[in-house]
Amino acid sequence: MRKAVSCLIVIFGASGDLTERKLIPAIYDLFLQCMLPPEFGVLGVGRSPMTDESFRQKMEGSLSHAKLVANTSPEKAKEFLAKLYYTAIDTTLADDYANLKTRCNELHEELGTNGNVIYYLATPPILYPVVAQNLQTQEMNHETDGKFVRLIVEKPFGTNLDTALALNKTLLSIFNENQIYRIDHYLGKETVQNLVVTRFSNGIFEPLWNRNYIHHVEITSSESIGVENRGGYYDKSGAMRDMVQNHLLQICGLVAMEPPGTFEADSIRNETLKVFQSLRPLSDEDIEKNVIRGQYTASKIRGECLLGYRDEPSVSPESRTETFAAMKFYIDNWRWGGVPFYIRSGKRLPTRVTEVVIHFKQTPHKLFSYLDGTSDNHNQLIIRIQPDEGILLKYGMKVPGAGYNVQTVNMDFHYSELSGVHLPEAYERLLLDCTNGDATLYARGDAVEACWKFINPVLEAWKHNPELKVYGYPAGSWGPENSDELIDDAPGWRYPCKNLADDGLYCEL
Ligand code: BG6
Repeated sequence: MRKAVSCLIVIFGASGDLTERKLIPAIYDLFLQCMLPPEFGVLGVGRSPMTDESFRQKMEGSLSHAKLVANTSPEKAKEFLAKLYYTAIDTTLADDYANLKTRCNELHEELGTNGNVIYYLATPPILYPVVAQNLQTQEMNHETDGKFVRLIVEKPFGTNLDTALALNKTLLSIFNENQIYRIDHYLGKETVQNLVVTRFSNGIFEPLWNRNYIHHVEITSSESIGVENRGGYYDKSGAMRDMVQNHLLQICGLVAMEPPGTFEADSIRNETLKVFQSLRPLSDEDIEKNVIRGQYTASKIRGECLLGYRDEPSVSPESRTETFAAMKFYIDNWRWGGVPFYIRSGKRLPTRVTEVVIHFKQTPHKLFSYLDGTSDNHNQLIIRIQPDEGILLKYGMKVPGAGYNVQTVNMDFHYSELSGVHLPEAYERLLLDCTNGDATLYARGDAVEACWKFINPVLEAWKHNPELKVYGYPAGSWGPENSDELIDDAPGWRYPCKNLADDGLYCEL
């Protein structure tokens, strides 16, 4: 695996939750695998007054979130923490960036990072254009003398089509597209990348991967947690903006794309863009019939009382924000003509699972009867993104004994069977790639815009048409009942369980 290229990572929003829970642990994991060069440092930037030392102390606790924490020792932790620095500035004040520039230059000198810098925007989104403009004021955006200057932008990238267009426009007036890295952390997940490898490294799947053999495609991303302490953000966002517009459509792009000519950033991103551009625009009727939104209500699970969404902290008691969204749509191109795609995502569902299910068509002639009394075979290929990462193929097999009864059985692979292999965290992979200038797993501006263009009519309709219902569903259930009716002409959604090979309503969650 490639090592990180020497650079200084400047994290704006360094006293925030993301830095502590994801970024520092991911960088620590890289450090523990000796993937960081000696010429490397992290400069935290935030409003809270802190010294380098107090920042290090604050981050010490976050090291426990690293995946490889078992491989650590107090000496290693100390060595790593010494690479962290901190500068307090008011990120909204252009003048403060002069101090930041001086500090960056001093650190480049001290660490030998050669002027290479990655700015990581982990601030509230409203500050993204502000920080970019202030960096420009101090000419901190220029790539000169062979050094690189890159900008990582956290999600959400805009809140609708207009704001995403405006943000792209501002950023592109300051940085070149190849300097901008828009994070969608789902693309950094090992199993999401494996989607492409499964499809294009095997001769057996791709010939079937089209409208002739696939009946429909299902993508589920469920979470058992509620909004926790993020009610303020979530109430303005909702599941459609929070999960569907970005993570789930990106997965859909990889499932549906044509084989790229080469495995290079632009080659792959050109293909996923074509998928997004081929999404059939949703008509008013589609939005009414084929897009379902729901909100969790209070319930009691295993003796524990769970709050309804409207009772969560920082959520309006009259909120109509969706905590569940499900939709049916089509990709109008040669490969996928007529194949429905179903996507659903929600909070406070029975379990945390993300998976893609490819449902194959029935055999043209039904020779056998199944144990369940039908003669329908339901071949499914399930690509499990998390947890119990792996792949499962469901197919029919003869029940031993007299007659020719058929039973659906499983053929499964679990990543956990690869002993001694470290499954990197998404942020670990993404940060490493950015130091190497590899944007393959980052979303390109045109793709983000195309996804917003597809979702925007739904957001507009929900905003302006109160007749479009928000269905309640008890916390801990699989969402509103009528989302089951979205899938016609086929058995409904798969009810996934924690373990890849289990399914059905009764399983371990
Ligand atoms: C984030 C969303 O982008 O993804 C969260 O804002 C969600 O609401 C999270 O919980 C899910 O990510 P993961 O990696 O835990 O599936």
